Amino acid sequence: MDFVEVVRKRRMVRHFKPDPFARESLERILDLARRAPSAGYTQGQSFLVVTVPERRRAVAEACDESFEVELYGYPWISEAPVQILACTSEAAYRFGHRDPEELPQDGSEIQWPVPYWYFDLGCSVMLILLAAVNEGLAAGYARVIDVPRLRELLGIPEDVIPVGVIPIGYPDRDVPSPSLRRGRKPASEVIHWERW
Ligand SMILES: Cc1cc2nc3c(=O)[nH]c(=O)nc-3n(C[C@H](O)[C@H](O)[C@H](O)COP(=O)(O)O)c2cc1C
Repeated sequence: MDFVEVVRKRRMVRHFKPDPFARESLERILDLARRAPSAGYTQGQSFLVVTVPERRRAVAEACDESFEVELYGYPWISEAPVQILACTSEAAYRFGHRDPEELPQDGSEIQWPVPYWYFDLGCSVMLILLAAVNEGLAAGYARVIDVPRLRELLGIPEDVIPVGVIPIGYPDRDVPSPSLRRGRKPASEVIHWERW
């Protein structure tokens, strides 16, 4: 699919058909996620794929799916055949493997101007969302609420932060988010040329 078409077609979908999709599609999506940029090439992003229905339901509970069902009418986090948990590691950025000359000489942790572990994960998430569209699929995004529960359920290490869940599958007719009523801001409001 043409890049512009993929970008324009992407939207957060909140209702999925139960039909599974090809394993090769999932592998292509995950491979593209690894191609995101990362500060200092730290590559603190990681991805946990969940497909077993009972486990998907438990993941969805950790995202407070009942609230989403009230809002959108469907259990869209658990009903999609695949969930990708988008994870990051602050520790990898502060203490991760680096060339000795990159580390502060006094043994302190590396200081970053903004939390790049979240920035880099956002880059990967966008690639996943676009790659899903490119495969003829759809994806959504839900924030994780109960991190300790997810850690216990899926054996996620303490230094890894599960940030969000991306359900992927074939789209079904859903209810548009009420936030969309705000409309897309005009270019003149968000793009500044030469001076603000
Ligand atoms: C960081 C982030 C967190 C989000 N969390 C949720 C969420 O928990 N539940 C949800 O339904 N949508 C969530 N969204 C989706 C946004 O509501 C959605 O991207 C926005 O309304 C624009 O719609 P579009 O992506 O379909 O263009 C989130 C998006 C981002 C970027």
